[in-house]
Amino acid sequence: MNTLTFLLLTFCTSIHTQTSKFYVIRQWKYLNFTWPDEDALKTATATGDYIPENNIVSGIKYFEDYYYLTLPRMKKGVPATLARIKAGPTRDTAPPLEPFPSWGMNQLGDCNNLQNVQNVEIDAKGQVWIIDGGRVQTLVEPVVKCGAKLVVYGLREGRVSTVFHFPEEVAARNGSYLYDLVVDDTDGGFAYITDNSAIDPGIIVFSVKENRAWKIRHSKTMTADPSARHFTANGVPISVPINIAGIALGPKIHTSNEKLIVNEDREVYFSPLSSLHLYSINTSSLRNPANFSDSSVTDLGLKSSQSVGMVMDNQGILYYTLLANNAIGRWDSHTPFQSGQKLIAQDSKYLEWPNSLTLETMGNLTVLMNRLNQFVYDKFDLNKYNFRLITAFVGGRSYVYDDNFNYDMNRDERMFHNESKTTPEPLPTPAPEPHYDDITSTMSNNVEIVKSASHKLASSLFTLILCFLLVRR
Ligand SMILES: *[C@@H]1O[C@H](CO)[C@@H](O)[C@H](O)[C@H]1NC(C)=O
Ligand SMILES: *[C@@H]1O[C@H](CO)[C@@H](O)[C@H](O)[C@H]1NC(C)=O
Ligand SMILES: *[C@@H]1O[C@H](CO)[C@@H](O)[C@H](O)[C@H]1NC(C)=O
Ligand SMILES: *[C@@H]1O[C@H](CO)[C@@H](O)[C@H](O)[C@H]1NC(C)=O
Ligand SMILES: *[C@@H]1O[C@H](CO)[C@@H](O)[C@H](O)[C@H]1NC(C)=O
Ligand SMILES: *[C@@H]1O[C@H](CO)[C@@H](O)[C@H](O)[C@H]1NC(C)=O
Repeated sequence: MNTLTFLLLTFCTSIHTQTSKFYVIRQWKYLNFTWPDEDALKTATATGDYIPENNIVSGIKYFEDYYYLTLPRMKKGVPATLARIKAGPTRDTAPPLEPFPSWGMNQLGDCNNLQNVQNVEIDAKGQVWIIDGGRVQTLVEPVVKCGAKLVVYGLREGRVSTVFHFPEEVAARNGSYLYDLVVDDTDGGFAYITDNSAIDPGIIVFSVKENRAWKIRHSKTMTADPSARHFTANGVPISVPINIAGIALGPKIHTSNEKLIVNEDREVYFSPLSSLHLYSINTSSLRNPANFSDSSVTDLGLKSSQSVGMVMDNQGILYYTLLANNAIGRWDSHTPFQSGQKLIAQDSKYLEWPNSLTLETMGNLTVLMNRLNQFVYDKFDLNKYNFRLITAFVGGRSYVYDDNFNYDMNRDERMFHNESKTTPEPLPTPAPEPHYDDITSTMSNNVEIVKSASHKLASSLFTLILCFLLVRR
């Protein structure tokens, strides 16, 4: 362990209490696209290449004024599997989706192009890491033609930089289901990808430097827990056992006794969908499979519900969805999991199946809800709002911005002050009844989903210069 002293100039901000308010910023009854021309739409409609009620948006990532949205091809008639929309204020709260990077790269049936994208990650350099499961129509009659691959597209360069086809033993074309991923810039770069496969679940590790992938399997923590298999989401019973799905990566920088500690052995958090447990594993254990053992995985404790999307900010705050509760949870990883969890939003209408989360550069957390609980059993009712984006200011940035770090020691008063007195009700105590205004489809309506979930949020009244000892190990 070598030590280096470091003068870190940090702009710390003062704290004032403020209620975290969630706003509905977009909502769609069904998804439409920016068609190249009328003929293209006509043809796609006639041939069944576009069936509006079969399109679901599943993953969301924010990057530089755009939301990147994934549309897994679970049913027929999904013309594009990756698309984007402009972020920021808009009059059109149900904008058409622009296929990304192009219509051509979303061509169904061409294994060189994107076939079935469940999630993407976008790193600080603007590289979009796209996981493509290959197999399509997974909810109806699966079409097994293309294998699973990882595609990295550089937004700055405007082109694909990497295509990696996973070998069969890592991701079988008829059995794997690439679900979600996080990226780690350590040692040339790694992607840690959850394979939600019903037969061979695990975490797939891809090393950029080695251009190689392998899979870490651990059935105890990566497969569905039979006792958490049954739950209800807005009255819809879910009883399929669903393996590892959500994944989050912890920051390289931690605080401990007024010191900042840099540790490239980061923590990866994950949970099977059918499970109440949150687990963690060191990235070193994922990177060195020979050293992996039962004791590499830590069981952090229980959540109040099954989860799917999760994201961690660069100061170690985890946000995660709670499906049976129609809620969003928040946990500061500097506190014990069991007692440190909070509900920050709960609403059966606006958070019906919150599927994915993204942190924006300016400290907003955006939640995508997609009513997947309805979609798996039936057709979407096109007269209802089936998808919504909901945003609140939470004051964090994604873990991918770990390097150009602007550490706010006072945020949430959580680091060095007494934590419990400042915090709202812990889970699993149900949140109070939400209060919100009537909503229409305009930006001006603000939906206060949980009134009492107050956070200490940062303002910029003072700037302080702090000096920390940085310990590198
Ligand atoms: C989709 O958008 C186009 C305009 O780009 C419009 O002509 C068409 O009616 C829309 N389709 C549906 C199903 O709303
Ligand atoms: C598909 O999966 C089955 C097991 O479910 C296996 O027996 C079969 O060999 C697989 N086919 C291919 C082409 O991999
Ligand atoms: C495995 O663990 C041993 C002991 O903890 C360590 O010395 C070794 O470097 C590790 N191997 C790898 C590949 O990390
Ligand atoms: C990595 O895991 C080991 C054992 O599971 C643990 O002792 C160690 O503290 C972990 N390191 C980090 C950085 O979490
Ligand atoms: C963040 O979200 C709030 C709503 O909570 C909104 O008023 C604000 O414009 C958003 N900021 C940005 C930069 O998008
Ligand atoms: C934290 O609690 C200790 C006693 O447990 C007290 O002395 C201290 O002033 C408290 N700090 C804050 C910031 O409230």
